[in-house]
Amino acid sequence: MNDEGKRLDGKVAAEEVVAKVKAETEKLTAESGITPGLAVIIVGEDPASQVYVASKGRKAKECGFHSVQITLSADTPEAEVLGHVQSLNDDPSVHGILVQLPLPGHIDENKVIQTISPDKDVDGFHYINVGKLGTGDLSNAFVPCTPAGSMILLRKALGDDLSGLNAVVIGRSNIVGKPMANLLLAANATVTIAHSRTKNLQDIASQADILVAAVGRPEMVKEDWVKPGATVIDVGINRVDAPERGEGKTRLTGDVDYEGALENAAHATPVPGGVGPMTIALLMANTLTAASRVAGRELPKF
Ligand SMILES: NC(=O)c1ccc[n+]([C@@H]2O[C@H](COP(=O)([O-])OP(=O)(O)OC[C@H]3O[C@@H](n4cnc5c(N)ncnc54)[C@H](OP(=O)(O)O)[C@@H]3O)[C@@H](O)[C@H]2O)c1
Repeated sequence: MNDEGKRLDGKVAAEEVVAKVKAETEKLTAESGITPGLAVIIVGEDPASQVYVASKGRKAKECGFHSVQITLSADTPEAEVLGHVQSLNDDPSVHGILVQLPLPGHIDENKVIQTISPDKDVDGFHYINVGKLGTGDLSNAFVPCTPAGSMILLRKALGDDLSGLNAVVIGRSNIVGKPMANLLLAANATVTIAHSRTKNLQDIASQADILVAAVGRPEMVKEDWVKPGATVIDVGINRVDAPERGEGKTRLTGDVDYEGALENAAHATPVPGGVGPMTIALLMANTLTAASRVAGRELPKF
């Protein structure tokens, strides 16, 4: 299908963000002698996590950052993981700390996240940053990367001010649904958050001028869930069987039936190539922001 003019291209938008991060990093380093540092802790051998962490490290280097990876075995005691977080909190060459989730079951994820210094919490999961976002103090918060990237794509379609628009977010997780709803509210949209206990979900979705799907259910959002002229942001990443590609093959798909949605939508994000590439780009942007704060410089806008 020709989706020209309707596709919100996350690859292109992510490249723009990364290009700005690189340029601003060069200036920061030249003018203040500070090189942004990003540290990633990975515990265990989860293959998907290893791929994510490797690509974060590559992107950090591409941006001119100091990149640190701490790889720990799956049986590492919680206290040792917390000790690594504390050391990174105290390390002035590190401006952003990320602990790759999920962690093995014997480690309390929340305890680890709340141990990260709020000033280095580039994932935006610490209560201090959650609170800043929730109270609308966006310029001082670290905003979680996936919703922050989704907002950039949305702004490309609709501009900065969403006054008068109805937004429906399907999903209420702390990493996507809730922060996304807060960002939409801060941009003046009228926001509804739907979840697994919501009744008449299709009716609610079909009233949305902005429909965000962050569920984890392949192609749950169909053509007739989408209001004519709506903007659809598909956060979902689902791996499904793809027998058409050969035996045992799989492919990635979102929470939205993209081609169906485009029959009604004015704009939509594809999967892959939509929100996904934005997440890692915004991690770089947040790390640059953290370093710029330390340097006492004006913060770059993304
Ligand atoms: N693009 C990216 O970089 C990126 C980043 C993060 C996540 N993701 C993807 O985004 C999706 C959501 O991630 P997440 O971490 O937010 O997932 P999550 O923590 O599992 O949350 C899923 C949410 O969807 C709701 N839900 C589940 N089934 C539903 C249904 N039938 N109808 C309505 N709501 C339903 C759940 O409701 P309850 O709260 O009632 O259970 C929950 O709030 C996943 O596919 C994930 O892979 C992508």
